[in-house]
Amino acid sequence: MGFVVGLAYNLKKDCPRSEMVVEDADAEFEEQATVDRIAKALRAAGHRVVRMPYGPGLLSRLQRDHVDIVFNIAEGWDGRCREAIVPAILESLGVPYTGSDPLTLAVCLDKAVTKAIVSSYGIPTPKAVKVDCTADLPNDIGMEFPLFVKPAYEGSSKGVRSSSKVNSRKELVAMVDWITGTYRQPALVEEFLPGREFTVGILGNRQLETFPIMEVRPAAEVEPESFVYCYNTKHNNLEKFLCPAPVPDELAERIRDVAIRAFRVLECRDLARVDVRLDGAGNPQFLEINPLPGLSTVSLFPIAAMAGGIPFEGLVQRILDTAVARVNLQARKAAQEAVARRSRSALARS
Ligand SMILES: Nc1ncnc2c1ncn2[C@@H]1O[C@H](COP(=O)(O)OP(=O)(O)O)[C@@H](O)[C@H]1O
Ligand SMILES: [Mg+2]
Repeated sequence: MGFVVGLAYNLKKDCPRSEMVVEDADAEFEEQATVDRIAKALRAAGHRVVRMPYGPGLLSRLQRDHVDIVFNIAEGWDGRCREAIVPAILESLGVPYTGSDPLTLAVCLDKAVTKAIVSSYGIPTPKAVKVDCTADLPNDIGMEFPLFVKPAYEGSSKGVRSSSKVNSRKELVAMVDWITGTYRQPALVEEFLPGREFTVGILGNRQLETFPIMEVRPAAEVEPESFVYCYNTKHNNLEKFLCPAPVPDELAERIRDVAIRAFRVLECRDLARVDVRLDGAGNPQFLEINPLPGLSTVSLFPIAAMAGGIPFEGLVQRILDTAVARVNLQARKAAQEAVARRSRSALARS
């Protein structure tokens, strides 16, 4: 059945100038080409697509143009609730959408809150503290160097540099100062994980499907403990992806287990990508979860899907179909049409 599908997104080119204070300020937002590819994939499945760029006109657009469901990749511009904004608007209008609800999206954007939840369910994650400014750094931070410092509410390695790994109090203070000043948000100071890095794409709801585990490695031969998947690495294509990751079955099972348990306890819906890294003893640790994973040609989620035999068009259609099944959209639409028919015939009789 073809639906009218709204497509909600934030384009890099629309990023407010006030946000453009640093070179990776727009790292989270979409290129026009990504939006076009998603629209094309939805049309290929027989749906009509209504583009809904994020911005002040979105609410009136939704009230004016009827859509059956929204394919949501809108990240919002600023703040830890930014990813929750479009879903909250859609909830208020009763319009179904792909992906997680506002609560999950807001929780998962705040890495400290996410870690507090996952660790309370026994999912291993490195110890961390969130600090608003350098003055909040306790004399004894209670963790051994090296530590890792990153923005508390970002993604796409925004605010992550090779200098994020800090080896001394002096480097720690400098990094916290840079993050809190540049990104106007708290810094998360976390134990450094020296091991290999993996990411796991997940699709589904009650039944979850994982894509082949992807390992992210530096393109050049570097020891894992010196590898940070940072903005510069991404920007200059200095990483390589191994998918499926060359790991023994038992380790793969433990990595998948961390990813799936995190997806479940955070009550994600339809899709997410979970980053996992090994600690010094080789144990998988939860780093973070992306309930709105990137869908560009270079994004890890579609690359892993492809390795699992799902090409981009099929992936977009699977995401929509997963949400359609979750909200029982066919039945919902049939019921709406029956109500409309009844009111039309009542009007005709009167
Ligand atoms: N505690 C850590 N130890 C080692 N590397 C880390 C740690 N936290 C983050 N990194 C590195 O920084 C990258 C980005 O961090 P991540 O938490 O995934 O944030 P983002 O939301 O920007 O993807 C990771 O892919 C990893 O390479
Ligand atoms: Mg990440």
